[in-house]
Amino acid sequence: MPGIINIKTINHVGIPIWDRRVALKFYRDILGLRVIPSMVDSPNIVWTKTLDGTMIHLIEPSDGENLGNPHAAFEVEDFDAAVEALRTSGYPEISDAGERHDGQKCIFINDNDGNRLEFATASGLRPSTRVADALGYTTESGTNAVVNSPSKIKILTINHIGLPISDRAECMGMYRDLLNINVIPHQIDGNSLSWTEMPDGSMVHVIDPPKSIGSRGDGRQHVAFEVIDIEASAEALIEADVEIVEGIGTRHDGQRFLFIYDPDGNRIELATRGDHSNTKRTADANGYTSENGVLL
Ligand SMILES: [Fe+2]
Ligand SMILES: [Fe+2]
Repeated sequence: MPGIINIKTINHVGIPIWDRRVALKFYRDILGLRVIPSMVDSPNIVWTKTLDGTMIHLIEPSDGENLGNPHAAFEVEDFDAAVEALRTSGYPEISDAGERHDGQKCIFINDNDGNRLEFATASGLRPSTRVADALGYTTESGTNAVVNSPSKIKILTINHIGLPISDRAECMGMYRDLLNINVIPHQIDGNSLSWTEMPDGSMVHVIDPPKSIGSRGDGRQHVAFEVIDIEASAEALIEADVEIVEGIGTRHDGQRFLFIYDPDGNRIELATRGDHSNTKRTADANGYTSENGVLL
């Protein structure tokens, strides 16, 4: 029986891209993420961060030919305990533990549906002299190229990630039981997904297969960036010729959202923080949500 892992927050997400020159025009110049020095040796990864320090790692193909897979990295309270719990959990594709230049430790594993998950300590555990240029190419020392984005979009943090799953009860063996993430009532219509929430309010939404798939894929795999001002964000996107494919919409907890795609087809959401602290909704152990006792 594996132990329980205490997740604090989302440390970063990894998003596959083909070419940093194209991707950074979107993530750095339009969305306003800040390029920071990478703490890994792999030259194909661009490190960026939101205003609260949550990171987005943009990952070019390591072999120049094959786009990688997205992953989500959770920050844990006790890394050694987490490694032990993961190793005895029976989940597949567990990696060796690694350590980055800033002392951050990490380990990877897959959930039942092949979603790649990383578990890590906090970042910046020891000082580093590493510097990055405007494209995120990192060297051991030199001058840091600080690029202040003129973007009107202020991304505070990652509000949630959306993960595709095939079996709600089975996936809860990972998110609810092993990772100890709270299952909460969701705040959308229907019952096609479960919401789970970490202590700081960051969420993982696990999403059932859709009835039909559009030309851009099924849209379940996505990252939601949290902004304060969704209207100003939408305006900035329109000015930058980024197509808003859905929204601005409003969820039942007041969360406002819109969807866009990055130049490589990754689905990105911008969302405000909802307040579901006083929701009248209830959820069962697998996140199926009811309102006034009636299953949605
Ligand atoms: Fe990572
Ligand atoms: Fe979402």
